[in-house]
This record gives sequence, structure tokens and C-alpha cells, in this order.
Amino acid sequence: MLSIDNITLDFVKYLFFFTKKAKNKEQIINLKGKILCNLFFESSTRTMLSFQTAMYRLGGEVINFNKDYSSLNKGETFSDTLKTMEHYADVFVLRHPKKDFIYQASEIIKKPIINAGNGDGEHPTQALLDLFTIFSYFDIFDYKKSFNILFIGDIKHSRTIHSLIKLIIKLFKNIHITLLPYCSELYPDNDLIKLIEEHQKSVTIINDYSNLQEYDILYFTRLQKERLEEKLNKNIVYNFDIQFSKKHLENIKENAIILHPLPRNEELSTDIDNDNRCKYFEQVENGVYIRMAILRSIFS
Ligand code: CP
Repeated sequence: MLSIDNITLDFVKYLFFFTKKAKNKEQIINLKGKILCNLFFESSTRTMLSFQTAMYRLGGEVINFNKDYSSLNKGETFSDTLKTMEHYADVFVLRHPKKDFIYQASEIIKKPIINAGNGDGEHPTQALLDLFTIFSYFDIFDYKKSFNILFIGDIKHSRTIHSLIKLIIKLFKNIHITLLPYCSELYPDNDLIKLIEEHQKSVTIINDYSNLQEYDILYFTRLQKERLEEKLNKNIVYNFDIQFSKKHLENIKENAIILHPLPRNEELSTDIDNDNRCKYFEQVENGVYIRMAILRSIFS
């Protein structure tokens, strides 16, 4: 699973079927004897450890590559590192800051590889867990119904936004997309705008939190500081006060849901965490179950 590109409606339905079973504590496959290798060249809490939990829950085992203690520090190439790792596991979960590295790695490792985030490119398993969380509250497969999603924050660099938008465009004509970037430097690239324009008549970009009544799903993201040049990072000025807090809750629908892939920074105040519309820790929980279903799809 390198990208959203190869994901079909049938596959999403299959995944959600087994995700629900895993969430109900039913056994969906036994992976005793199988080994998963986490290959993370960039920080992670949720993605790395939820894959680890998912593998353990399915009876398999996990090894974690640690770049800081690896022979990369002795001058070994990435290619030799990957050729070596290929012999140690049955499935690989790879995160790397360079967008193309995942595709190069998939040429070297002739075993299943899951993209756990490639720079500002994609994060397909996050998109699937996001969609599963949305599906838990809205009947999105009923194409007679329509839904509005607002993507907020660093639209340009957020790989979770890129993958979820691609997934929505591919499968859900009935989900309408609106964007709220924090400032002009975080506006989407033309390619993404074109994709959205093919999906719906036009792309609406709103300016602040003053009119949020029409949205069913509010999807927040942090500023991806690690993707910005140092100069821009220091000088970035937001168009509005980006902290969404208790005072904003009265301006959103009673049955809206608030999502965030996490980690969060200042954009979501912790004073809203107990509001039942906030589902970001439910996303974290669903991350384990969707990854169990993904592992099942690979080994069955
Ligand atoms: N959402 C997400 O990818 O979190 P991590 O960076 O902690 O894995």
C-alpha cells in the first residue's frame, strides 16, 4: 500500500468489514510466525506503535529499525540497508521525509510495503482510519445523502489531507470539500486544486472560523514545521487566530465531528476535548483496528 491510487471501493468496504470485527474483539486472522518491520526515518508515535500493536494483537511479531543506532552511521547506503532488512521480516512499514523514497524502496524490497508517510506526499493508512471514523458517524456509502467536509490548516504540506482528499475524490461524489488554510503560504498546490475541481464544480476557500454551520466534518491539521524552510518557519503569519476553542463550538453543527490526525499544536485547544463532537482520540483507537484489517488483507 504505497498510495491511495490503487485503493478501490470494494477494498475499502472489505477493510471496514474487518475493522469493525477487530473492534468487536473478533479474531480476523492469526499471524503467528509472521514478522513486521517498522522502518521509520522520521518521528512517529501513533503510526509506528499502532502497527506494532496491530501486529501483536494478530499474534505476529515486530522488529523496529532504529536509524540512529544503525550502520547508516558507518556509511552504509540506504539501498544496502533495505536489501539487508528484506531478509528479516515479511511486511514493512516505511516512513521517510523524501516523497520518492517509498517508491525506490519498493523496487528493492520484494515484499509488501506500507507507506506510513512519504514527506508531504501521502499517508494512506491515516486516510483509511480517518474515513472509517467518518463512516462511524455518517452513512457516506449512501450516495443519495451528501456531506460537507472542511479541511483546516496546512493544506499544502499535510500528507494526511492529501491522502484523504484523494480517497474522497475517488470514491465519494457525495462528499463536498471546502478548504481553510491558515495563510497563503499553506494554500494547496495547483495539482490538488485541479483534482478537487474535477470532483466538484469549484473549490471554495474560506478565511476564518466565522461561518462553520454547514460542515459535518471539520478536519484540523497542525503547521508542518518540519516541511518549511527555516526562514519561512520563523516568519509565518496566520490570517486569523487559529486556535479553535470552546467559544467556537456553538458555531458548529450539533452532530458535526471534529477530526485531527494528531499530533496537535496550538490549533486545537484542549478545552474542547470533552465535547462529544471531538473524535481525534477515537481516530487513534481506530488506527489500531484499521491496521489490523490492512495486515489481514496482506496475509490472507
Ligand atoms: N497521525 C500520525 O501520523 O501520527 P504520528 O506522526 O505520531 O505517527
